[in-house]
Amino acid sequence: MSSLTNKRILLGVCGGIAAYKSAELIRKLQIRGADVRVVMTPAAKAFITPLTLQALSGHSVRDSLLDPDAEGGMGHIELARWADLILVAPATADFISKLAIGEGSDLLSTLCLASPALLALAPAMNQQMWAAQITQENVSLLEQRGAALCGPAAGEQACGDVGPGRMLEPEELAVKAEALFECAELSGKTVVITAGPTREPIDPVRYISNHSSGKMGYALAEAAVEAGAKVYLITGPCQLAGPERVSVEQVETAAQMHKSALALAAKADVFIGAAAVADYRIATPAKEKIKKTDNTLTLELTKNPDIISDVASLEQSPFVVGFAAETNHVVEHAREKRLRKNLDLIIANDVSDQSIGFNSDDNAVTLIAESGEQVLGRRNKRLLARDIIQHIAAVLS
Ligand code: PMT
Repeated sequence: MSSLTNKRILLGVCGGIAAYKSAELIRKLQIRGADVRVVMTPAAKAFITPLTLQALSGHSVRDSLLDPDAEGGMGHIELARWADLILVAPATADFISKLAIGEGSDLLSTLCLASPALLALAPAMNQQMWAAQITQENVSLLEQRGAALCGPAAGEQACGDVGPGRMLEPEELAVKAEALFECAELSGKTVVITAGPTREPIDPVRYISNHSSGKMGYALAEAAVEAGAKVYLITGPCQLAGPERVSVEQVETAAQMHKSALALAAKADVFIGAAAVADYRIATPAKEKIKKTDNTLTLELTKNPDIISDVASLEQSPFVVGFAAETNHVVEHAREKRLRKNLDLIIANDVSDQSIGFNSDDNAVTLIAESGEQVLGRRNKRLLARDIIQHIAAVLS
């Protein structure tokens, strides 16, 4: 599997002769499993047509910030949140300069400003422009702010000059993009993650459950694998494909999740409880389908075991991370829950907001530990998962 599998890459194309290579780059990224969308600067259209890039990417190409029709589809903020990586290839001296001063004067520069995604730049320009002190200063400023620099290569240039400033070849860029998602921060560690809902049977055809889709837990599993960990995912019933390189255990009930979790936690370095575990189950599920003879039906519920508390109570307990799904006084309730369940870290999310939390692609959380708190603003769950995994890795190290 490539580390670009299922990754969402926003390819930014600027106005330079190397823009013709962007067509091939789309293919190279797609072959590795990435979903690619393209945004062009107005000048890029002088070098390659939006239609070419649309045909190759399979999505309409955006080039204008002030296009009401395009905004009616995936708006620019949505696009900024969608991306896992913004790869600007070619990145011209002009565009690099715009980014360095924080300008948002076109769609692509605005997206770079508005997105929490990884940013990678593949410079392409005349060797003298690349060598210019201002370009070098701009590039190092962007690197200090976290942008990844891919290239440039040296060689013969379209203008006849020879020197550094050629955009890397599409294959090299795709390999670099893959490397951006791979890190070794959790190498040698074992991470156990619970995800999704549990189902508590009422009778053979009915159950009690909740709205968890599993997206948060699956994204954490993917991010932990990318960080080099051995990952076990214990999942309630979800519609998601199991992430590759992850050992997946399917369970239905809280009792089954409890059993799997305690067995796996014994060999884990990190345990993350992202599952929405039913707090109660039916005391005695009916063996046959319950007939609707009466106007009311009373169900007797009994408390489920608290999986994460039991993991945290193990003699050799791993680093235990819980989630707190709250609808009011989110942070206060989460703080109390961390102490009550004896967790190393709790991640508070507001599930009353339907645009984040349950079943949505995005989330916004507060990380709460003994040592302090950190807010991670709204972003897609995959990016958030990477940030959470990085945070955990930093604490462990
Ligand atoms: O799956 P998604 O649609 O992507 O939604 C993500 C999410 C909202 C489900 C996720 O971000 C989240 O908040 N998961 C925890 C939901 C929850 O059950 O929270 P809680 O506050 O009730 O529980 C606190 C912690 O105890 C959680 O880590 C939970 O997994 C754990 N728990 C709860 C009950 C129980 N019997 N055993 C447990 O281990």
